[in-house]
Amino acid sequence: MTEQIVVGAALLAGGRLLAARRSAPEELAGRWELPGGKVEPGEAPEAALVRELREELGVDAEVIERLPGTWPLKPPYVLQVWTTRLLPGSGAPEPLQDHDALRWLGAGELWDVDWLEPDVPAVQEVAGRLRS
Ligand code: C5P
Repeated sequence: MTEQIVVGAALLAGGRLLAARRSAPEELAGRWELPGGKVEPGEAPEAALVRELREELGVDAEVIERLPGTWPLKPPYVLQVWTTRLLPGSGAPEPLQDHDALRWLGAGELWDVDWLEPDVPAVQEVAGRLRS
């Protein structure tokens, strides 16, 4: 089966990373993730990321760069992550869909939340960047 990409956003602002707590499905509820979702057929991953951030958080964001790595999810899905930032004039993120809480985590707080396992290597990569 062909790999299907799930895009995740490392949304960064003022040296903090946005974490989003899932409200569904039941087996993932209460766990934290980088917001994002499935790329639709014919859609570029970067466009999917911007769309998902608008739908889930109500923000206007831009994609900065891809983090190295592709991480397995439930087949056929794999996770890829991009750093992103809010565009000037974007409102603040709100948990509109799929999430019931958001937190902006500073470099020393990144491991205060229970990340979904596939997101952990991406958060490690971001941790290195926030420290340097
Ligand atoms: O958000 P959505 O339900 O479309 O994501 C599909 C699947 O990808 C989820 O069920 C979840 O297991 C996984 N996922 C993840 N980490 C993310 C985003 C999604 O593990 N940051």
